[in-house]
Order: sequence, then C-alpha cells, then structure tokens
Amino acid sequence: EKNGHKHFMAKEIAEQPIVIADAIRSYLPSGGDQVVLPGADLDFTKLDRLTMVACGTAFYACLTAKYWFEQLAQMPVEVDIASEFRYREPPITGRTMALFVSQSGETADTLAALRYCEGKADKIVSVVNVPESSIARESDIALPIHAGVEIGVASTKAFTCQLSVLLMMALKAAADRGTLTDDELADHYAALRGLPTVMNAALDQNPAIKTSAQRLSEARDVLFLGRGLMYPLAMEGALKLKEISYVHAEGYASGELKHGPIALIDKNMPVVVMAPRDTVFDKTVSNMQEVMARKGKVILVSDDDGIAEAEDGVWSIIRMPHVHSSLTPILYSVPAQLLAYHTAVAKGTDVDQPRNLAKSVTVE
Ligand code: F6R
Repeated sequence: EKNGHKHFMAKEIAEQPIVIADAIRSYLPSGGDQVVLPGADLDFTKLDRLTMVACGTAFYACLTAKYWFEQLAQMPVEVDIASEFRYREPPITGRTMALFVSQSGETADTLAALRYCEGKADKIVSVVNVPESSIARESDIALPIHAGVEIGVASTKAFTCQLSVLLMMALKAAADRGTLTDDELADHYAALRGLPTVMNAALDQNPAIKTSAQRLSEARDVLFLGRGLMYPLAMEGALKLKEISYVHAEGYASGELKHGPIALIDKNMPVVVMAPRDTVFDKTVSNMQEVMARKGKVILVSDDDGIAEAEDGVWSIIRMPHVHSSLTPILYSVPAQLLAYHTAVAKGTDVDQPRNLAKSVTVE
C-alpha cells in the first residue's frame, strides 16, 4: 500500500504529479479555455473581498493564495488562523466571501470559524479533501482538492492540491473581473497543464535534496527565508521540518532578517533560501549575503538562472526546473517536503506518526 516507499509520506510526496494533474483536469477541462469551479456558480464580480481562514499547513496555503488573489484578481484578501479568528469575532462587512481550507474538513477551530461567518458573509466556500466532512457539508459551496486519502500526519500532497485549486480560483476571479488579458490567462492555463511534468523534474532532484538534508540533521536550529510567494512556503518548510524531525525551525520573510533573526546567525546555523529567479530575487540574494557574511550556511533552492547568479559561497544547492512565476510555491513545495522527510529519516524519527500530533484535530 506504500507502493514500494518506506513511508506514506514518501509515497504521498511522490504521487503529487498525479493528484495535481487530477485537480487541474477537473477545474480546467482539457480543450477548454476557462476555469470551471465544479458544481459551483460563483461570480467574482459580485464579491468585493475575501476572508480566508484555516490552521497549520492549510493556513500557509491561504497565505500563498492571498498573493494570487491580490495580484491576479485585484481582490483585497484577509487571512487568519482559525483559533484567532473565531474568538476575535472580526466584523464581516460588504460583499465578502468567507473561504475555509481544510484537508480533513473536521478541524474544530476552522469549523467554528465557519459557523461564526454564517449569516454574515455573502458566500461560505470551502476547499476540502473530504467531501463528506462537516466543513464541506456546512458550506454553500465545497470545492474538492482531489488529493486522495492522505495518511502521513504531515500534510504534503493535500497542500500542493490546495494551492493548485486556490490558484485556479484566483484565475477564475481574474477572468470574471477582467484583471488579466486573455493572453495572460492562456499563459497561466498552459503553465498549469504543464505543471505535473515539471513536478516530476523537481522530484528527480531527490538525491541532491537528500544530501542537503543530511547536513540539516546535524543542526539544532534551521532558518527558512523567502520573499513574496516564497514567504509562506518558507514557513511551511519550517513547519514540516519541526513536525517530523523535531529540529527547531523558523520561516521568515527575507526582508525581516535584519529586524531580529540575524542575531541567531553563526557557523552552526543552516539557512534554507527559497529563491526562484523572480522580480524580488536580487533582494533575497542580498539577504543571503548578509547570512554568509556571518558564516551562516546557506542551502540555496533556485533555478538555473538564479544559481548562475548567486551560487558563490553557498553551502549547498538544490536546482529546480524553471516554471511560470505563479507556480513556484507549488513546485518549491517538493524540496521543502523532501528536506524535512530526509532529515527525519536521518534522525530516525517516526515520519508518518510524529509524536504528539494527530491527523485530524477535532478538539480545540
Ligand atoms: C501540518 C499539518 C497540520 C494541518 C492542520 C489543519 O503538516 O498537517 O498543520 O494542516 O492541522 O488540518 P486540516 O487541513 O485537516 O484542517
């Protein structure tokens, strides 16, 4: 049942090209030239804002989606952790879509946050992996992510399927609201359809990722840095590492480095820098140089162009294929997940069932 893999987590990481292809096919029908939300009649011109609520890894998917909805569809987005949102009781005004993201669909805080929005938000929408779940049933619209059953406690394929569905929703919003041209939309669709192939190429980097992980397994603390779309992923990479390898890790926005965490940097501190060669690359590289000037050990995750420009002095390199800039968080999830996986294996921890954690958090 693990398909030849040692752990469910490894199997679930490896099957991402297949499940993402399923998700993409069901929202972007082949031959078609638009995103169709299955079973849902949603018109984003009738909505002014989006409030997204989730926990843990699903929360990082929401943070990533904030960049997409704002940049592609010009929609104001608020993102919150369910346990904060539900007790803060924020005002829900105007034409708001409340969007809940949950793999299990049973997370107690997320469900309570959804119930708080009933009668206040214009539309209650959920993005779930379990269509029969409480969160799906109590939503006006429940959108499936098509990840299939996820057994490893640390979420992997559910995260990348959540991201894929959220990106397609943002593209639907952009098409409805006329914020992208037809050519720009066509570029996104073509890139999405090519994503499973590119994910396979990222998975082929497993040996290099394993070598870097060997080094992480000797560290006490690890810092993950990213800017823009890579910032939420830096936090997700840090969460994966602490969950399954018990190595302390923090994810930071690169620009925040000098506002505190730089004090931690010394020769014992590995810093994973997630940086495709995008519009904020130069800024991230200068942050990376600040780390190296203090003898911090940089693991650079980038593409050919980025590596050619910035490899001097880095400790180790993980090479990613080139991909459309919107898709980098999905693609760069692969090295984030595999770094945590191989570190945990090197440390001999229980990868699929880390201590103190449950797959579905039905109590608060
Ligand atoms: C991390 C992880 C958790 C869950 C969180 C929300 O690997 O699995 O952080 O993402 O407990 O769970 P769902 O998505 O079921 O609401």
